[in-house]
Amino acid sequence: MNILIMGPAGAGKGTMSESILRQYDIPHISTGDMLRENVRNHTKLGEEAKSYMDAGKLVPDDVINAMVEDRLKQQDCEKGYLLDGFPRTLVQAQAFEKIEESTGKHVQCVLALEVEFDALCERITGRRVCPKCGAIYHTATKPSKIEGVCDVCGGPLQQRKDDTVEQLKVRMDEYEKSTKPVIDFYEARGVVTHIDASKSRDLVFAQVQETLEKIR
Ligand code: AP5
Repeated sequence: MNILIMGPAGAGKGTMSESILRQYDIPHISTGDMLRENVRNHTKLGEEAKSYMDAGKLVPDDVINAMVEDRLKQQDCEKGYLLDGFPRTLVQAQAFEKIEESTGKHVQCVLALEVEFDALCERITGRRVCPKCGAIYHTATKPSKIEGVCDVCGGPLQQRKDDTVEQLKVRMDEYEKSTKPVIDFYEARGVVTHIDASKSRDLVFAQVQETLEKIR
């Protein structure tokens, strides 16, 4: 299956990806996670991306496109992909079309998660993540069993630097300006499913699953 999952910051892309991976055997490729790993490892790419990410701005297209192209060439992607957070601009979408042509792996489904701003604020400010294994928590709606400790791997939970209301506003502006047109781009191909992601995690996943079963 070749799937894109899109939506504004805090809409639940990472959370739904966790659920999708439990049911479907495809690699999860999150450009946000890849960038954060590069930042943690102080790579050249990470150094370049850090200032954009901390400010809530998009990282330049050429950096992202090269990173994703490399990843999609890896062998595990022969069975498909769940791309989370890419493409986020029309330039990225056009670069991705070329990758689709060269690999023959065309997008079958775009899951477009939709949530109102106020709910996004609550989700973003309460989010805690495990940098070791990537598990996602929320202080109110999905707390870890021991405060500050990951249930899955025992790692220390952290709050992301860009998880403030101020940065969320910047990220939302970027989303409206650059990423909404990408959804329209895929709308024209007839592959977009709009998901009401304001509901509980289980109800959101039920909509996702119903959509994915149609392309399985
Ligand atoms: P990225 O990591 O992709 O961040 P994002 O798009 O802002 O999305 P988030 O990870 O913040 O949210 P999410 O939708 O995954 O929500 P989650 O499931 O965690 O990108 C970060 C930065 O990297 C960008 O700002 C940019 O600088 C750069 N970047 C990345 N890709 C790029 C690209 N292609 N081009 C250029 N730059 C790029 O959920 C959030 C919280 O809500 C959690 O606490 C969760 O438990 C909770 N929650 C989830 N679902 C529900 C629910 N149904 N009900 C209640 N709570 C819920």
